[in-house]
Amino acid sequence: MTHLDRSSDTDTTAAAHRASDAAALARRDFLTWVGASSLLALAAPGCALGPSGPRRAADAMNVGQLELAARAKLDHDAWLYLAGGADDERTVARNVEAFREIGIRARRLVDVSSVDTSVELFGVTHRTPILLCPVGFQQLFHREAEVVSARAAAARRHGMILSSVSNRSVGEVARTGVSPLWFQLYPTTDRRITQGLLQRAEDAGCEVVVLTVDAPVLGNRERQHTKLADMLAMGDLPLGNYEGFGEIENEFDPTMTWDMVDWLHDHCDMRVVLKGVVTAEDAELAVARGADGLVVSNHGGRQEESDRATIECLPEVVAAVDGAMPVLLDSGVRRGTDIFKALALGADAVCVGRPYIWGLAGFGQPGVEHALDLLDAELVRIMRLAGVTRIADIDAGFVTG
Ligand SMILES: Cc1cc2nc3c(=O)[nH]c(=O)nc-3n(C[C@H](O)[C@H](O)[C@H](O)COP(=O)(O)O)c2cc1C
Repeated sequence: MTHLDRSSDTDTTAAAHRASDAAALARRDFLTWVGASSLLALAAPGCALGPSGPRRAADAMNVGQLELAARAKLDHDAWLYLAGGADDERTVARNVEAFREIGIRARRLVDVSSVDTSVELFGVTHRTPILLCPVGFQQLFHREAEVVSARAAAARRHGMILSSVSNRSVGEVARTGVSPLWFQLYPTTDRRITQGLLQRAEDAGCEVVVLTVDAPVLGNRERQHTKLADMLAMGDLPLGNYEGFGEIENEFDPTMTWDMVDWLHDHCDMRVVLKGVVTAEDAELAVARGADGLVVSNHGGRQEESDRATIECLPEVVAAVDGAMPVLLDSGVRRGTDIFKALALGADAVCVGRPYIWGLAGFGQPGVEHALDLLDAELVRIMRLAGVTRIADIDAGFVTG
């Protein structure tokens, strides 16, 4: 199988274009790193940080510092695969910046000695509203891949969404005890294989399938290297969920339409959540077609260069759904305050992608656990500072604009 979150572009024009832009991209890479990422890392007074970030996971004061460690440890191609986005990566940056443009309206004189961060999704109580996003090919970041992230999520009691293009199978990941475990689906055009994937997810105990709807084709990821394709072709990167299905011809299904929601309901018993909805129009269609939930996501800025942060898309989606189903958000979440703002604007829960992978790449399981601990602690702190003790009580009155 060729794959998704890697460049399939072997076109020579594009290669020439890439070469001529190398200097500009390197400059942009540096600026993105210094400007967007390290702002978080540098914001930690009193913490002696070398250019490689903290020496132990526990020394990281925020997830930005884990990013420094990941960057220092990762092979360059793996780093580009993780960090990269579409076109000029403005959407990657916008996802983060837009959170900073929203203010928090804190209330005073509230007893915040006890804070409850639990949320209920599809009848299941989650200890925290922070879930792990589906991130494919985690063997690029750690030898034991998704199993390590799952162990950390299990230890810290976070829900996890496993990518269909994980290196380890959904059955193996489920055996870590991570719960709830949801399964993300990229359907191939061969629906028999799709059905096989659904069966494996159900056998592993998944109660939710997350259909990614923002990838009819791969986004234009100019920094992503074809080495990934070579590794896949050589069998260096196993695809745990697809074992035994033979060669997969189509990595994307550009023919997929809203009928897929019916198809999924007809072919599995899992709840169907659509990941990648960013407009009111599609949110209304999702309700009309009987989807069970939505993730407002732009794939971390890796698909279309929309110049819209997901936090900017969230209000119209929430308004259109009007409470009919849970709405989650991902992309650009780096701080507990970002989570607080998303919850205030109507998200029922949030997912994080790159931040836990920074922990994974930098320090393995302790790194993922620490990334989750930092975000949990930051959320609890901002709830206390803003004078609110339950997730359900965080409403639009707590934010500006
Ligand atoms: C390296 C990488 C691989 C990803 N793989 C998948 C995938 O297999 N399936 C999917 O639906 N989304 C995938 N995503 C998108 C994430 O699920 C999520 O939408 C995004 O990472 C959120 O943005 P953030 O990284 O800024 O938190 C991937 C993202 C990254 C960074």
